[in-house]
Amino acid sequence: MYPLIRTRRLRTSESIRRLVRETVVTPDDFLVPLFVTEGKGIKEEIPSMPNYFRLSLDQLEKEVKDLWSMGLCSVLLFVKVDDKLKDNKGTEALNPNGLMQRAIKTVKNACPQMLVMTDVALDPFSSYGHDGIVAEGQILNDETAEVLAEMSVSHAQAGADFVAPSDMMDGRVLTIREALEDEGFINTGIMAYSAKYASAFYGPFRDALDSAPVDMANVPKDKKTYQMDYANRYEAVRETQLDIDEGADIVMIKPGLCYLDIVREIRNEVDVPVAVYQVSGEYAMVKAAAEKGWLDHDAVMLEQLTAIKRAGANIIASYFAKDFVRTLG
Ligand code: PBG
Repeated sequence: MYPLIRTRRLRTSESIRRLVRETVVTPDDFLVPLFVTEGKGIKEEIPSMPNYFRLSLDQLEKEVKDLWSMGLCSVLLFVKVDDKLKDNKGTEALNPNGLMQRAIKTVKNACPQMLVMTDVALDPFSSYGHDGIVAEGQILNDETAEVLAEMSVSHAQAGADFVAPSDMMDGRVLTIREALEDEGFINTGIMAYSAKYASAFYGPFRDALDSAPVDMANVPKDKKTYQMDYANRYEAVRETQLDIDEGADIVMIKPGLCYLDIVREIRNEVDVPVAVYQVSGEYAMVKAAAEKGWLDHDAVMLEQLTAIKRAGANIIASYFAKDFVRTLG
């Protein structure tokens, strides 16, 4: 006891702090989300996500080469779809020459070793802005899972290494796994958004893809009948266990910071890699406060990323990936 034991001894210099540090974030931890749009030479900043851009395919090519040179080896693709191509069933998502399919090929051509994951959900393709098919004010589960399975096969055909269903329909991981097996894509992985909460932190992302639920009669105004209630913890473990039983290779918790108790709970319960998505609203908050000079951007970013990893994340999907690598000098 005191004075024999003084815990401050292990904090007396930067060298000893480095020696005993338990958690170190590295470029290998990151999965980089990228927003893709039609056109040429387009790099448009997303207003609610400073220094983050929608990229046309030629710019995407440049971006992935840049990421690779920075030691960032995995990307997660999202597409912004023209309103004219949207319908209730997300038909455009299955177009073999659709934007997502071309984006996958673009990344693989530019950088064959870059790991490509794709978002699988209907919302960017849905005229109603929902992750599933809408009928009489409801989101249809099983019919949606079938479309998601076709979408996953289409992404695999285009060259995706992993598909990442972000929709929260029941049974979709099994439906997708079976469809991939049937088509011979035995090595295409599934990263399941397993504990995805109905969160207000997705706002800037929905701006980026113009994918928010529309305000129309008989269309649910929010995603609360499929995304989880943020008050719940045990349910997250159950959702995650089910996805693993259905064949998920990686499970994900989303958003990040408000959910680190869930991350630790799940990390203690399961034996597959656990990913955490630090979402658009989390990014926007740090950027806005830093712009005002109220917070030190890099210091806060590093503290948050380290906390996510300390909580148990093996993989961090984050818009801060490049900002983080820059801090390494
Ligand atoms: C689509 C999807 C969303 C995000 C990832 N995939 C939005 C939503 O569920 O409404 C959010 C990511 C972010 O906010 O950064 N299913």
